[in-house]
Formats: sequence, C-alpha cells, structure tokens
Amino acid sequence: MQRTASDAHAEAYANIASYVARQARKRKGLIVDYACGAGLLTKQLVQLLPGWRVLGVDGSRAMLRRAKAWADRMPQDRPASLEWLRAKLPNFSLPIREADIVVFAFPNIITGDKERSHFEGMYSTDSAEARRIAAKRGKAGAEALYDQLFMNRVIARNLRGLLRKGGLCVRADYSQGDRHELTRHDQVATMFEEGSLNVGTPRRMPDPFFTLLDSRYYPSEVIRDVYEQTEDEDFLEGGYSVSLLKAL
Ligand SMILES: C[S@@+](CC[C@H](N)C(=O)[O-])C[C@H]1O[C@@H](n2cnc3c(N)ncnc32)[C@H](O)[C@@H]1O
Repeated sequence: MQRTASDAHAEAYANIASYVARQARKRKGLIVDYACGAGLLTKQLVQLLPGWRVLGVDGSRAMLRRAKAWADRMPQDRPASLEWLRAKLPNFSLPIREADIVVFAFPNIITGDKERSHFEGMYSTDSAEARRIAAKRGKAGAEALYDQLFMNRVIARNLRGLLRKGGLCVRADYSQGDRHELTRHDQVATMFEEGSLNVGTPRRMPDPFFTLLDSRYYPSEVIRDVYEQTEDEDFLEGGYSVSLLKAL
C-alpha cells in the first residue's frame, strides 16, 4: 500500500490508464482490473472511460476496503459504473464473461502448493511444458522457475477466460528492458507465461490463446517494489513493460 502511493507509481498508473483508454475504441463496454489492489489504476480507468462498466477484483479485504473508500468519495453522478469483487485468484468460477478489456498490473499473485496441485491436475500439458522450459535453465532454481512459469500460465488462461474473443488484455509487468533485449530463453518463457503467439514463437509452443499486438518498456522506479521484496540488487534499476494482447 505504501509503495503504490509513490510518485513513480502515480506516473505509471496515469501512463497505463491512458494506454488502456487509447485501446478502448467503443463508447461503452466491460473492463476488469484483475488483482486491482487498492484500485489506484482502477480509479484512473473510471475517470478516463466514463461510459464503461469497471470491475475491480482482488483477494484482499484490506485492499478492497481502501478501494471502496475512494470510490465512495467520488461524485455519485459519475458516468462509469464501478463494482468490486473479492475473490481468490486465479479463479475459473468468476461471474465474469465476455469482458472487452482485462487489465493486469504489477502482478504479485500469491498461491500455495494446494492450489498448484489443483491446477496441475487441470492443465497437465502446461505443467509438462513449464518443467521442460525450467529444466533448460539448469538444476539450480529450476523448481522455483517451474512454479513461476506454470502459475503465470494458469493466470494467463484465467485472464483469457474472462474476455470475449478479440477482447484485449493489457499487462503491466515489472521489467528490466525491452522484450527484444531478453535472451532467447527468457523470450520463450515470457510467451509461454502469457500464452501468446509472437513473432518467432517456437513451433512446439503449446496452444497459444493470445496474440501479442504491442509491447513498450518504460524505465521507472516502480522496479524497486521487486527489490524491496527480494533484496536482489539487480532490481535497483529497471522499470515496467506494457503489453497488449488480443484474445484468440
Ligand atoms: C502488487 S499488488 C498490485 C495491485 C494493483 N494491480 C496495482 O497495480 O496497484 C498485487 C495484488 O494482488 C493481490 N493478490 C495477491 N495474491 C492474490 C490471490 N491469490 N488472489 C487474489 N488476489 C491476490 C493482492 O491483494 C494485491 O492487491
């Protein structure tokens, strides 16, 4: 909560919201802020997309309480409709279908072993592919990498499931450079995690459910969130990337 109140975050939220608004070519529709936290990005979306229905979803009561507090202070005649839903994510029983846009910003979805086993039963092909990609990095850290790859893939499937065909997913991910600067291994891992079909997608990549339309990198101090959590000095510098994916 403290970190999201920084100037760097305020600037990033404004930038991401205006990017989303530029993609929203209709006068009205449904936009979902997946893992919305205290809703600081949601707030900007409501202001920029007055005709739209905006839904914020998060698992934290405390975060949603914060979000509702600012929402209650908004003028009651605001044109956009705004709703909140508390749910553990990823979640394939959300009462949301056919959204036009799903936004997923600065993800840090926390799940346990029980959830992972449950999803491994549901998505065994993804699990096998995540293991194969993780093993290519060598033995050290392979289990943690597998966990990250597999759960991110499940989350991407969940994001796709909320959208109508042709709907858009806007992701803002902590990043340390432009996509094309990543190593080949990291590019493949990213495509797998987001479920995308990109230029240079390896032939054996299973079942893409998004196609990547755009990706931009912005240097920003928001990367320090990662440093604060990991204490890894590599994350003292970097920024975030905004990716635009279309649901296949
Ligand atoms: C780093 S914050 C980002 C919040 C927001 N998107 C933003 O950019 O300000 C991650 C959010 O994910 C939520 N979260 C983490 N694990 C979750 C889970 N398993 N289910 C639901 N929400 C979760 C947290 O409550 C938190 O609000």
